[in-house]
Parts: sequence; structure tokens; C-alpha cells
Amino acid sequence: MLAVELETLGAKGAHATDGGVAFEGKLDLAYTINLWSRLASRVLWQVGVGRYRDQQNIYDAALRLHWPQWFVVTNTLRVNVTAIRSPLTSLDFITLKIKDAVCDRFRTAVGERPSVDTAAPDVRIHAFLTADTCTFYLDTSGEALFKRGYRRDALEAPLRENLAAGLLQLAGWNAALPLVDPFCGSGTILIEAAMMACDMAPGFNRVFGFRRLSWFDAEAWGTAREDAARRAETGRASAALRLYGSDVSPPAITAARANVAALGLDPYIELRLADALTATAPAAEGLIITNPPYGVRLGADEDLPALYAAFADTLKRNFSGWRAFVLCGEMALMKAIRLAPSRKIPLYNGALECRLVEYRLVAGSNRKQSAASEVPVDGKMSKSTTRGQ
Ligand SMILES: C[S@@+](CC[C@H](N)C(=O)[O-])C[C@H]1O[C@@H](n2cnc3c(N)ncnc32)[C@H](O)[C@@H]1O
Repeated sequence: MLAVELETLGAKGAHATDGGVAFEGKLDLAYTINLWSRLASRVLWQVGVGRYRDQQNIYDAALRLHWPQWFVVTNTLRVNVTAIRSPLTSLDFITLKIKDAVCDRFRTAVGERPSVDTAAPDVRIHAFLTADTCTFYLDTSGEALFKRGYRRDALEAPLRENLAAGLLQLAGWNAALPLVDPFCGSGTILIEAAMMACDMAPGFNRVFGFRRLSWFDAEAWGTAREDAARRAETGRASAALRLYGSDVSPPAITAARANVAALGLDPYIELRLADALTATAPAAEGLIITNPPYGVRLGADEDLPALYAAFADTLKRNFSGWRAFVLCGEMALMKAIRLAPSRKIPLYNGALECRLVEYRLVAGSNRKQSAASEVPVDGKMSKSTTRGQ
């Protein structure tokens, strides 16, 4: 999906690689992609690649690169190393070797070296090791792109913004479809939907790493932002959306309202304090895309299996004709939803492996038939529930 998105934004030859998508383009494509990609986590500019057998080879490869041509010595620096199948055991040590090589190159060129700042660096260097190759990148994004800059209030388990955008695209949502998120938390899924439908650039409210790189052209960047501002104005004027969010937690709804207001999206998203088990369909057809609580981060004291089972009953009772997509990080909990899934998509929310499970809610036809009370009676499903099973 990311490769397709990047091609749409003007990338050439986009194709999936280990942990990313590789593509080609002129450097100012970095403005467009950082500003407009809803799915990418970072946009890295490849500046060098070398074979290696040991740490010294990596130091030498990093020393050969023209770092002082790409950024000035007064910028602070951070080096990140990731590896797949590398024979080298200490990535921390490789990180230090690369940092030393960059600093040594600067010392030779300008007589000074940049300082390291791991918390808020001006410039980020990434190195990616395979079994015998080391590739170096300069990060054009800076902070990860899921940090859109609209979150006003950090709740406990918000979904990453680019994952929320991905869920919408996987589910095939478009602006003509009503969308309900009955466990909306800080509102990420609905906000991403509204931004997409209003043609608002996801990166409009943030700063990017490329502004520290030597090829940064403030005028070209200014033009890209002006274009984005115009598109958002037109998009918002013509958007007619049906987006509904609710959550049982008052702080969650307060946070969602603050986030929605920060983007001026109040006219497009209806938010309510309510229990998901009381949700009803606002139209005959539509999509539910939601991320109910799961034990990993939200505390295991609630009876989550009972909540999932009861939510399945609500879906079945009140949302026939709809499609529901439920994202969950615990397979045991998903089993409590006693409806037959039509699709299961593996995804990661950060490091946490999840599934996005689709249910087509057709009246009386998709209840799993594993209990006697669920066998259809007179052509209809029994009314008895599976709550607590
Ligand atoms: C994993 S979080 C959702 C995070 C959300 N997608 C976001 O991006 O912020 C689950 C949410 O479900 C809410 N919740 C728990 N039980 C609920 C219930 N019975 N009805 C409605 N919301 C509930 C919690 O308050 C929490 O905000």
C-alpha cells in the first residue's frame, strides 16, 4: 500500500524491501512525500552503500562519505543502526564507530566535529546492515511521520496515526461511507479519515529533518506548503462526511475533542461520551473501524473477554448491513467475538503484533455455530447472547 501511495506522489520504481519501500526521485520529492504520505514512517535519503566483514569496514565506509557537504558542523547528530542477519553482535558499538567516522570526516574537512544529541538531534543518520552490506541514509523526516503534530493530549494507548490511515485504506473506506469508531480514544481513526477526505496534508503542522540538509530550498518548500494550504481549503469546503466517535472515558473524549479542534475538524466529526455496547447505526450501511482495549497497555483488571463478546452482540443486533474492522493485539480476546471473520490482516502497532479482523454483518447469518443456543431457529438466529463466554 505504501509503494502505491508513493508512486501516486511521484516516486519512481517504488518496491517493497526489508522493512520499507525503496524508490527514486529528485530530492525535492522529499518535500512532497514528507508532507503528503499518510502511511510512511520516515523518508530516508540513501547517501552510501558498502560491503563489510567487520566493524572497521563499516567505519571506513562511513569515513568515505561526504558528510560535510550535506550538513554543517553546528548541527547536532544522532546515529541509528538496524540490522537483519548481520554477523556483528554489538549494534551499540557499530553506532559509535559510525559516529566517530562522521566526526573524523568533519574534523579533517573543517577542523571541528558535530556534537551528539540523542534526544532532539538536528540531523539523523541511519545505517542498515544486512549480512554483508551496510547502507547509509540521511533522514529527511526528523521525528517519525506518524507524529503529525495535532495530538494535544497523550492518552495511554493511542494508535499510531499512519497505522490508523492504513486501517482506513485496508478497509476500503471512502468519504461517501459513514464511519463509526465506538472505542475512539483520542479519535485517531476518525481524524485521519477526515484529513484524508478534506485533502489535508498530514505533515502540514510539523517540521522536518530536511530543513537541516544542504539542499534544502526554502522557496520550493514554501510553495509545497502553500499548495497544501490551498488544497485543504478547497477540500474542507466540499467535504460532506459522516464520522462518529464515542468512548466511555471522559478524559478520552476530552482528548479527542482537543485533537479534532486543533485541526478545525469539529464540523466533520461527531463525538459522544458513551458505552460501545449501546452504539447504534447512524445509517443503513457503513464501516466500523475500531481498536477496542486490550490487556497489554490498558491494565488487565477489566473483564475484556466479556466486553468483546458483548460488543459482538451489539454489532450483530444494531449494525446489520455494515462491515466491522476490529484491530486487536490479543488473539485470545478476538476469540470472544463469536462472529465469523471474513478477513484477517496481520499488522504491527509499533512493536506489537496485531490483527485487523473484518466481519460482514448480515442479519442472522454469520454467528459462529458452536453453541446450541446459536443454531438458527425458524430461519432466524436465536436471540440468546454469547456474553461472558
Ligand atoms: C486501545 S484504546 C483506543 C485508542 C484509539 N484508537 C486512539 O487512537 O486513541 C481503547 C479505548 O476504548 C475505551 N473503552 C473501554 N471500554 C469501553 C466501552 N465499554 N465503551 C466505549 N469505550 C470503551 C477506552 O477508554 C479507550 O479509550
